Amino acid sequence: MKTKESSFFKEWQEKTSRQLEKRPERKETFHTSSQIPVERVYVPGDTDDQYKVQLGLPGEYPYTRGIRNTMYRGRHWTMRQYAGFGSAKETNRRFRYLLEQGQTGLSVAFDLPTQIGYDSDDPMALGEVGKVGVAIDSLEDMEQLFEGIGLDQVSTSMTINAPASILLAMYMVVAEKQGVSMEKIQGTIQNDILKEYIARGTYIYPPESSMRLITDIFSYCTDYAPKFNTISISGYHIREAGANAVQELAFTLANARAYVDAALKAGLDIDAFAPRLAFFFNGHNHFFEEVAKFRAARRMWARIMKEEYGAKDERSLQLRFHTQVAGSTLTAQQPDNNIVRVALQALAAVLGGTQSLHTNAKDEALALPTEDSARIALRTQQIIANETGVADTVDPLGGSYYVESLTDEMEKEAQNYMDEIDKRGGAVAAVDQQYMKREIQRAAYDTQKRIENEDEVVVGVNRYKLDEEPEPELLEVDDTFVEGQLASLGRLRSERDSAKVEKALAELKYHAEGHSNLMPFIKEAVRCYATVGEISGVLREVFGEYQG
Ligand code: 3HC
Repeated sequence: MKTKESSFFKEWQEKTSRQLEKRPERKETFHTSSQIPVERVYVPGDTDDQYKVQLGLPGEYPYTRGIRNTMYRGRHWTMRQYAGFGSAKETNRRFRYLLEQGQTGLSVAFDLPTQIGYDSDDPMALGEVGKVGVAIDSLEDMEQLFEGIGLDQVSTSMTINAPASILLAMYMVVAEKQGVSMEKIQGTIQNDILKEYIARGTYIYPPESSMRLITDIFSYCTDYAPKFNTISISGYHIREAGANAVQELAFTLANARAYVDAALKAGLDIDAFAPRLAFFFNGHNHFFEEVAKFRAARRMWARIMKEEYGAKDERSLQLRFHTQVAGSTLTAQQPDNNIVRVALQALAAVLGGTQSLHTNAKDEALALPTEDSARIALRTQQIIANETGVADTVDPLGGSYYVESLTDEMEKEAQNYMDEIDKRGGAVAAVDQQYMKREIQRAAYDTQKRIENEDEVVVGVNRYKLDEEPEPELLEVDDTFVEGQLASLGRLRSERDSAKVEKALAELKYHAEGHSNLMPFIKEAVRCYATVGEISGVLREVFGEYQG
């Protein structure tokens, strides 16, 4: 049957027109440079059932071609650059710079002490304060981080996992102090502990207690912050640890199923929390494999949620994801080459239908980005969005013999891994068995071997090398801020109402030993200016620490 004459297509057109009444597309009409009209979506002349089962139309189950009918014709992906270093003041400056340069979402990088629940003055923090991200010890730092930025005006991603509930509580209290109601705050908390055990390493507590903290956030946000994404189930770091694309896809979805199981076990209703589950994937070098990976991910997740978990709300079925292009492919040699790598990886993420995107700066194999290199990274997205035309039609690579075959193949291979993980008792059990970690290490070893014997070319590294590498201009993070950070922390401790802090921490401890949702008690401790280290310390006493 002619696709465009089918009821399937006509219903889709009517649904899209209704959506356009509420949210028109970016432009009235879209054309190529030769003024050839560009249609919203391109479909085969004839539609068979296979098309509907495997692809569907954009915004239709199983969402292979995109989760929204109009995708980037309605709204470009969010340009969301991961940023943070030094003090909250320093990072606030960078945030404002990036917003002035046109980025459309915030993304907070926290330093390692914050990420593993230590204050800047803890001996464990020595040498790491403000290094790989911003140092946040208390609500005071969080207020400075968002100084002059209205939390009802931006969506903010926070890359924080073990202490996620503390930083989320701080964000909520900053919004409160700005007079912004919790129903209005938008953003994402990474809150994905399983990938920390298998790839990234910033865990604190054992799996069971960690899963409790995670589902506490699901439940609390469902009730009080319905526009906030409660988890960013991450494949990025799994890939960065050496996994290949199929493993990244499979292990991420296996972890996602474990979170859904944990939430259901905690008594949450699938359609109450699932719409706010979000994902985070890597944007890597093999162009078409990356596009196929994203398309397969959407179809697999839609089927898992509908057929396995019985989710009814279409938002529960739609896999929404952020992409960060692969830090591990950046070379220290000839750093300008990285601008090209990042552009191609970003293009693959866009052709794969990402909702949000971070593009790496050319010098990040050597240091944190300078303002110049951070601006080029953002301009890369803006050029793709505004000059290439790729955002003017939905899923432009859909229907390609290669891309559709690769999408099917990746789904099949990823499913094999997920079946294996299922046999082993699921992702949490697989963490304990170190199964995924071993598979990742094996893939990493194979990749390194291929690079060493030049089967895999890395331009500038194992081929097309320069005898002399010019000295690039790199960002110098001024360490002297650390003394200031320690002084402010000391002052805060002396000025705050210590009795209130003690009471709030004791209350938190009491409930941590029970079964209450800990978010309200963490928020109360944060309001009294208890620190990340103090609150994490109380939870360490109750939950213990994971010995990886
Ligand atoms: N038609 C109609 N509505 C549309 C639309 C269209 N075509 N396009 C977008 N919209 C709407 C959406 O529905 C949404 O509205 P809603 O919230 O009411 O549904 C709004 O516009 C915003 O769109 P998205 O939700 O698609 O985009 P966001 O950017 O807000 O969210 C996300 C994207 C993936 C869901 C979210 O989880 C996110 O932003 N994630 C970012 C995570 C991140 O940045 N992580 C960085 C980690 S760094 C790291 O870990 C690496 C380090 O360790 C090295």
